Amino acid sequence: MEGLVQGKVALITGAGSGVGRAACLLFSEHGAKVVAADINGENAEETAAMVRDAGGECIAVACNVADPASVDAAVAMAVETFGRLDVIYNNAGITINPIPGKGMKSLAECEPDEMKRVEDVNINGVIYGSQAAIRQFEKQAEEGKGLGGSIVSTASVAGLMGYGGVLYGTTKGAVVQFTRALAIEVADKGIRVNAVCPAGMLTHYAGMNPDSEHRERILQGMGAAHPLGKAIDPRDTASAALFLASDLASNITGVNLPVDGGLYAGRKVGG
Ligand SMILES: NC(=O)c1ccc[n+]([C@@H]2O[C@H](COP(=O)([O-])OP(=O)(O)OC[C@H]3O[C@@H](n4cnc5c(N)ncnc54)[C@H](O)[C@@H]3O)[C@@H](O)[C@H]2O)c1
Repeated sequence: MEGLVQGKVALITGAGSGVGRAACLLFSEHGAKVVAADINGENAEETAAMVRDAGGECIAVACNVADPASVDAAVAMAVETFGRLDVIYNNAGITINPIPGKGMKSLAECEPDEMKRVEDVNINGVIYGSQAAIRQFEKQAEEGKGLGGSIVSTASVAGLMGYGGVLYGTTKGAVVQFTRALAIEVADKGIRVNAVCPAGMLTHYAGMNPDSEHRERILQGMGAAHPLGKAIDPRDTASAALFLASDLASNITGVNLPVDGGLYAGRKVGG
C-alpha cells in the first residue's frame, strides 16, 4: 500500500528531538524522502541514521531556523539531494528557560534577550521556512514540475488559549494567525498552509527529560489535565502534521488543529 506522502520530499525542522524526530520517522514510514534539519547537526544526523536504519531515505542538515540564509541553504540541500520540495514542516520551537525548582517564569521575570531569542525562533523561524518553501514551490511551478506544496507548522494549544508561559503563548498565537493569513495569500497557487497545536508533551522541550525515572508518573499527570485522560505523545502531533501535509488534506488550508486530548474544547461542568 502507498504511504500518505509517498514520493514527496519533506523538510522537517527541529528534527533532532521530540516531535521533529517522530515526524521524520513517521513521514518516512509513509514514503517521504526526508530532510532532517536541526540547529544541533549531530542530533539531526542521529535522526537521519534512525530513518535510514528503518529503511527510509533521509539526509541531515544543520540549520538555524532563525537565520534566513541557513533556512535557504537547507531548502537548497533538499532540492540538490532529492530534486524538489513538496512539504516543509516548520516544527522547531523553544521557550523561555524555566527557573530550576520554581518552574515557568512570569512575563515580569523575562529578560529582553531571551524574549527576542524565543520570538526569533518561534515566529521568524516559521516565517523564514515558509518564505523559502513558497519560493521553491513557485520555481517548481514555473519549471512545469507541478503546482503547489504544503506548509505545516507546530504552533501550540498555548497559541489558542491562555496556557503556560505568556510570551511563549504569544509567539504561538502569532503562528496561528500567520497560518490563516498565509493560507489565504497563497491559496491560488495551490499551496496549503496549516498548523498543529499540541498540548504539553514529555520531550526535551523546556528542560524536561523524557528519559526521567519518573516518566510514567509525569505522563499520568499530563494526561489527567485532558478530557481524554492521556498525555500527548510526540507521535500524536507528528500524525496530525502528516495528515495535514498529505493529499488526504488536499482541500484543507488555514487550519490550526489542536492535538490536545480535548483540552481546548472545554471542560465538563459538574459530575
Ligand atoms: N513539548 C511540549 O510540551 C510542546 C507543547 C506544545 C508545542 N510544542 C512545540 O513543539 C515543537 C517541537 O518541540 P519538542 O517538544 O519536540 O521539543 P524538543 O526540545 O524536544 O525539540 C525541539 C528541537 O528544535 C531544535 N531547535 C531549537 N532551536 C532551533 C533553531 N533555531 N533552529 C533549528 N532547530 C532548533 C532543538 O535543537 C530540538 O532538537 C516546538 O515548536 C514546541 O514549541 C511543544
